[in-house]
Amino acid sequence: MTDHARIELDGQTFEAPIIEGTEGERAIDVTKLRSSTGTITYDVGYGNTGSAKSEITFIDGENGVLSHRGYPIEQLVDQATFLEVAYLLIHGDLPSREALASFQENVTRHTLLREDMKRFFDAFPHDAHPMAILASATNALSTFYQDNYDPDDPDSVEKSTHRLLAKLPTVAAFSYKTSIGQPYIYPRNDLSYPDNFLHMMFAVPAEEYTVDPDIARAFERLLILHADHEQNCSASTVRMVGSSGVNMFASVAAGVDALWGPLHGGANQQVIDMLEHIRHSDADVRTFIERAKDKDDPFRLMGFGHRVYKNYDPRALLIKESAHTVIRKLLGSDPLLEIATELEEAALNEDYFIERNLYPNVDFYSGLIYRSMGLPINMFPVLFALGRLPGWIAQWREMKNDPGTRINRPRQIYTGPARRDYIQIDKR
Ligand code: SDX
Repeated sequence: MTDHARIELDGQTFEAPIIEGTEGERAIDVTKLRSSTGTITYDVGYGNTGSAKSEITFIDGENGVLSHRGYPIEQLVDQATFLEVAYLLIHGDLPSREALASFQENVTRHTLLREDMKRFFDAFPHDAHPMAILASATNALSTFYQDNYDPDDPDSVEKSTHRLLAKLPTVAAFSYKTSIGQPYIYPRNDLSYPDNFLHMMFAVPAEEYTVDPDIARAFERLLILHADHEQNCSASTVRMVGSSGVNMFASVAAGVDALWGPLHGGANQQVIDMLEHIRHSDADVRTFIERAKDKDDPFRLMGFGHRVYKNYDPRALLIKESAHTVIRKLLGSDPLLEIATELEEAALNEDYFIERNLYPNVDFYSGLIYRSMGLPINMFPVLFALGRLPGWIAQWREMKNDPGTRINRPRQIYTGPARRDYIQIDKR
């Protein structure tokens, strides 16, 4: 295969080197294009543009493959704990028993929030969306560590890593408790990461609460399946914001905001709204499939389609399996799961979806599991954020450690008015 691309422009030839990745994917390196030709590339939504070289996650969208640091997601979700995967993403390899114990201890020792933070939750209306609280609280957390969040100090970066992993579940649980008028349940150091979160969410001071191990494992599997996904919208946002030199808290807070969007991590909430709408509508699934195809109809099949996967999202397959298991255990059956299954079958046999390679993505079944666990629907994007957190941190640290990193500053093509003179207001 050729090791360079040739661009002919105004009688000039620009030779651009080809970069090849571990799995054979290739890129034309246009780093010197503008300085050599005065011309830039144009790629709205960056669908054809690589923003980084990364060693963290590999996705083969055509074949539905996802791996982290070389380990297939199917093996990690079955054999690893979430903190093990977090360590793998952040430090580059699976931890030894001692390294994992130390990492777990560091995270466990930072789960408490400063008591002053509790006033923070009282400031929000009770119906505040928990993603707004999570993004605000992530930034607010940094105000307690201003002497210890220097993005260029390795020890501060390590401390910020532990603090974010440890405290965001506590923030999420506290925001939930505030929204339902219940007292906060403090983290417990004798519980595992998933058990601790479920305990903070569902325990009440009036009685003992025992975490169901099957539910905790199903929740941990969901955390693992959301852990990282290369240069998705929110991870790219974390890198973009971090490239300005700001601390990890501010960069992650920006990632939370990006993830909130209904086209990204907010889709899991939209899927349940869509399924409930179908359930209470007189129309059948067929009608909604037709609406999803209709360009004049704003209805989209939420949880379907993906910028990269042009095959079944491997995470969706794994979550679908868990959905049937958890819902059978908790609810016996769920009409929304039946509707989702019917929708999927109809769509996968519909030319419109087949031609556009539209398959269920990570958000299509995840909300059904969260809902069966009794988690409130507006918390679903928060649960996605808790899963994605180690990925954001790993992407941010890789960006910071890359000597080639520059502040991210895309160019544009200006299409506004040509030069014109100012007009005095009485002449307009
Ligand atoms: C996540 O990037 C990541 O990795 C994201 C993520 C992660 O882990 O970080 O995987 C998590 O965000 C998953 C995606 C969750 N979003 C949704 O489920 C929302 C519904 N899906 C879509 O809006 C859409 O599929 C996107 C946003 C996911 C992808 O959009 P693209 O790549 O910009 O594709 P597109 O909008 O250009 O669609 C291509 C065609 C269009 O039709 P044509 O113009 O070619 O005729 O497919 C159609 C679209 O109209 N289409 C859909 C559809 N998704 C795309 N039609 C109906 N229903 C849908 N869901």
